[in-house]
Amino acid sequence: MPDENLTGTLDRRDWWRSAVIYQVYPRSFADSDGDGIGDLPGTTSRLGYLASLGVNAVWISPFFPSPQADAGYDVADYCDVDPLFGSLADFDTLVTEAHSRGLRVIIDLVPNHTSDAHPWFRRALAAGPGSPERGWYHFRDSDPSDPDRPPNDWPSEFGGPAWTRTPDGQWYLHLFDSRQPDLNWEYSGVRAAFLDVLRFWLDRGVDGFRVDVAHGLIKAPGLPDAGHSRAELATLPTSAAPFWDQDGVHEIYREWRRLLDSYPGERVMVAEAWVNPADRIARYVRADEHHQAFNFTFLDTAWTATELRERITASVAANEPVGAPTTWVLSNHDVIRPATRLALAAKERATQLGPPVTPPDPTVGQRRARAAILLMLALPGSAYLYQGEELGLPEVLDLEPGVRQDPTFARTGGARLGRDGCRVPLPWRREAPAFGFSPTGAAWLPQPGEFAALAVDQQVGVPGSTLELTRSLIAMRAEHRLGEGSLTIVDPRTVLGDAAHGDLVVVEVRSGSSVTHVLLNLGPAVVLPEGARVLIASEPVSGAQVSTDCAVWLEL
Ligand code: NOJ
Repeated sequence: MPDENLTGTLDRRDWWRSAVIYQVYPRSFADSDGDGIGDLPGTTSRLGYLASLGVNAVWISPFFPSPQADAGYDVADYCDVDPLFGSLADFDTLVTEAHSRGLRVIIDLVPNHTSDAHPWFRRALAAGPGSPERGWYHFRDSDPSDPDRPPNDWPSEFGGPAWTRTPDGQWYLHLFDSRQPDLNWEYSGVRAAFLDVLRFWLDRGVDGFRVDVAHGLIKAPGLPDAGHSRAELATLPTSAAPFWDQDGVHEIYREWRRLLDSYPGERVMVAEAWVNPADRIARYVRADEHHQAFNFTFLDTAWTATELRERITASVAANEPVGAPTTWVLSNHDVIRPATRLALAAKERATQLGPPVTPPDPTVGQRRARAAILLMLALPGSAYLYQGEELGLPEVLDLEPGVRQDPTFARTGGARLGRDGCRVPLPWRREAPAFGFSPTGAAWLPQPGEFAALAVDQQVGVPGSTLELTRSLIAMRAEHRLGEGSLTIVDPRTVLGDAAHGDLVVVEVRSGSSVTHVLLNLGPAVVLPEGARVLIASEPVSGAQVSTDCAVWLEL
C-alpha cells in the first residue's frame, strides 16, 4: 500500500518548491545482475529505502545507450535504455513502483552534446564538409593563420583543447571529451529533435528533467576566441566565456516549458548551470523557464561563517525578483564528497583535486558534513541529496590510476584526479560481497575498507548515525514546513547575547506560526540560553553546549 502522505505529495501543485530530491547515480547505486555496474532493476529494488528516508523524488543520472566515455553523459540514443542498465520495460517498472511509493522521477537530459557514436554525428562525419548534416554540430576549418591550429582557443572542461580534427581536415567542437561533440542549437533540426525526446519521456510518465550543462547550448556568434585560459575564465562572470551563459539559451527553455506545461501534473526542469553572479542564475528560473537551478554557489562555499552567511543571503535575494525558491545542494557526482571536501585546506578545496592530496582528518570532515546537512535541510526551498551523502561517505582518494575512468584524469595526464572518488559504489551491507552493491561482489570501482562501517545496515536504526540523522531531518523539515518558509540571517547576539562570536551562522526560518532557528557554530563552543529547546543536533549537545562544527535546530 502506498503511504497516504507521500501519495498526497504526488497531487500537490508546486511540489518541487520545497521537495527533497535524491540523486541516484545508477551505475553506483545497486547492481541486480552482478556485472559490477548498477542498473535500473537494482534502483527499483531500493526504492523502499528511498521512500523510508522520506525524500519526495529521485533524479536518476543517465542510463541511455552510450559508449560510456563520460559515464553515460555521452548519449548515443536519447530514447532508449542501455542494456548495461536494463530495458525500457525496466524503466517503466521503476516509474510505476516509484509513483506507487509517492516518489516522483526526474531523469537527466543531455542536450549540449551527444556521443560521437550518435547516428547524428556519424551521419555528419560521413557527409563531409559543407553538408547540411554537419550543420547539426559545430564543424569548422583550421585557424586561417595556421592550418595546424584549431579554429579558436576554447579549452575543454576536461583538459586540452575543445576541438578535435577529423580525417578530412575539419575540426569539431567539444566543450567536454572529444567523444562528446557539441550540438549546434542554432539549427532548427536539433530543436525539433529534442522536443520529440522530451515528449517521449513525458509520455512515459517522468516528472521532470535535470538539464545537463544548461548554460552551454548557445555559443557566441562566429565562435570568437575566449582570450583567457580556463583558470582565468573561472575568475570572471561566466558569460565572459563565449560558450557559457549566452542569452540565447533562454528561448530554448521557454519552448520546453510550454511543452512541459501542456502535460498533466506538474512536470519540472532543473538547470545544471554553473553560472555566476547570482542574478544570472536567477534568469534560468524565471516563471516561464526552469522550475529550479542548482545553487552551486552554496555548494562551493568555504567553511567560514562569513561566506556561508553572504552566499545564503545573496542567493535567496537573487531569486526573489523572479519568484523562484532556492535549490540547495552540497554534493553530486561531479564534486568532492562533503565529508572530505569540508575538511580540506582552503587552497585544496577546489571542486576537483589534483595529486598529491593530503587526506584530511576524517572526523572533522564527518562532523562538518553532518552540520552542513543540518543547515541545508532547514533552509526554505528545495534540497538535493546525492546518494551516499546520507551515509556520510567520504571521497575515495586513493584509487589506482589504472581503475580511474573519468576522462578528466586521462585528458590532464593525471594532473586532475577527476570525479571517480565520489562515484564509488554504495555500501549496503557490511558482511556481503561488494558490501551488498552487487550479488557477485563485482564493482566497477573498488570500494575502500572504510565503507564497511558506513554501510546502510550499520546505520539503519542506529540512533545518531548519519543515516538516521538525515531521516529525522527530512521528517522534521516536513513537520515544520521549513521548505515552504522564509529565512532571515540573524545576528547571533539575538540568540546568544554576549556569548555570541563572529563564527556563527544563525538563520531564522518562519513558516506559518512556526519559527525555527538553525545555528551553525564554526568557532569556539557556545552555550545556549536557558529555555532554548534543541529540536535536533548534528551531534550530542551536552550541558547546552554547542561545540565547534556542530549545528542545531532550535525553538526559542
Ligand atoms: C555535467 C555532468 O554532471 C557531468 O558528469 C558531465 O561530465 C558533464 N556535464 C558533461 O555532460
